[in-house]
Amino acid sequence: MAQDYQISKNTVESAYSQLFAEGYIESRPQSGYFVSDEIEHYLPFNKSKKQSSPPETSSFLYNFFPAQLHNNNFPNKLWTRLHNKVMNDTIDFGGYPNKQGELSLRIQISKYLSSSRGVQSTPEQIIVCSGFADSMFIIASLLKSFTSKLAIEFPGYNVVKQVFKQFDYSIEDIPINANGISLKDIEKSQSKLLYVTPSHQYPTGVTIPIANRFKLIQWAIQNNAYIIEDDYDSELSYNNRPIPALQGINHNNCVIYTGTLSKSLSPALRISYLVLPTTLLKKYQDLFTFPFSGVPIDTQKTLELFIKEGYWEKHIRKTRTLNRKKHDIMKKNLLLYLDKYISILREGSGLSIVIVPTVILDWKKLNKEAEDKKIKLYYIHYDSTATIQAICMGFGGFLEEEIPIAVKAFSEIFFNSIKDISKSIN
Ligand SMILES: Cc1ncc(COP(=O)(O)O)c(C=O)c1O
Repeated sequence: MAQDYQISKNTVESAYSQLFAEGYIESRPQSGYFVSDEIEHYLPFNKSKKQSSPPETSSFLYNFFPAQLHNNNFPNKLWTRLHNKVMNDTIDFGGYPNKQGELSLRIQISKYLSSSRGVQSTPEQIIVCSGFADSMFIIASLLKSFTSKLAIEFPGYNVVKQVFKQFDYSIEDIPINANGISLKDIEKSQSKLLYVTPSHQYPTGVTIPIANRFKLIQWAIQNNAYIIEDDYDSELSYNNRPIPALQGINHNNCVIYTGTLSKSLSPALRISYLVLPTTLLKKYQDLFTFPFSGVPIDTQKTLELFIKEGYWEKHIRKTRTLNRKKHDIMKKNLLLYLDKYISILREGSGLSIVIVPTVILDWKKLNKEAEDKKIKLYYIHYDSTATIQAICMGFGGFLEEEIPIAVKAFSEIFFNSIKDISKSIN
C-alpha cells in the first residue's frame, strides 16, 4: 500500500492500527487484516443496501414559490465587503456571544422598527432568531404554562400550527373576512393567545382596518391575552406606505411582534427577530438560560453594519422597486393570458399574487399537467374542506423577463384543466 500510494510505511501502519483500534478491521493470524465480519453489513458503502439519493431541488422549469427572492437581489459585493470588515475588526472569537443576539445589533433593529414600523421597543426586548419557526419555538415554549390553546387565522401560515402542535397546543381556526380576522369569532373563542398577520393577512393580503386593530387590542386587554403579530412582508407594500404595526398602538404589553429578513434581504441567511412585551422578559430570561441565538456571530455583525451604515434602508427601497416591477409584470400577464378565467384575490404587496379561477378546474389534471411540464404551483385552501380554491403565483424568484414566459406556460396547463367553461364560479 505504501508503494501504491507513494506514502510512508509509518502512515500505512498507523492507519491500520487506528482501524484495528476502532474495530473496523480484525487481524487473522498469518493472513493479515480483514474488514470485520460484524460491521460489514452496516457500512454505509455496503452494496447490498439501496443508496438513497438526495432529492432534486432545481428540477422545475417554472417555480412559482411565493417566498422567494432572486439570487441577483442579494447585495453580494457589499455584504462581502462588510463581512470582511467585521471579521477583521469587531468579533471576539475567543468568547461566547450574547444569547439573545448581539446587543449592538439589537440596538439597530430597535431603531429601525421604531422609525419604519412604529414598533416601540428597547433592545432588551429584542431576540435575534434564526427564522420565523425559531421565533415561534421561543413563543410556544415561553407561553406553555400560560395557555395551551392557540387561535390562528384561517386560511393562514401553516408553520405556526406545526410548531405549536409540537408543544401540544390545541389549535382553533378563526375565519378571515374582508376586514381580516373575524372579531366576532375571536370574541367567542376562549383562547388567550392569537396569531395574526394584521398588515397583510397571509395569504389573502387583507389589511385589518384601524378600528378593528383597536378592537383587537381591546379584546386582548380585556381577556388578559397575547397577540402574536407576524409582520412578515410589510417592507414590500407597493400601492401605499407600509401600514404601521399593531404593536405600536398598544404600548407593547399584549403584542408579541415578529419580523423576518427573508422577504427583503434573503431567506437563506435565516434571520428573524422577536420583540417581547416587557411583561414576558423575566420569564424569557428565567427559561432561556442556555440556548443561544442561532444566527452566527459574523452574520449578526455584518447585518449590524449593514443597517448602521444606511445600506438596509437603501436595499429595502431597491427591493421594493424591483419587486413592484415583477408584481406588475405578473399581473399584466395573468390578465393577458387568463383574463376572465381568473379573479385576483391578493395583489399589491409581498412576493406573490393570489388568483382564484372563475371556471371549474380539474385540480388533479392541473397538478398532473404541472408535473409533466415541470411547473411548480402552490395552492391555498380557503375553508376546512380539502378543496383547493386559490393559487399563489410567486414572482420574486423570477427575473423580470422570465415572468411572461412562465405565466404563458401556466396559462396553457390552466386551459387544459378547465372542466367546464360554461360553469363559471362567479
Ligand atoms: C406568513 C409568513 N410569516 C413568516 C414568514 C417568514 O419565514 P422565515 O423567517 O422562516 O423565512 C413567511 C415566509 O414565507 C410567511 O409567509
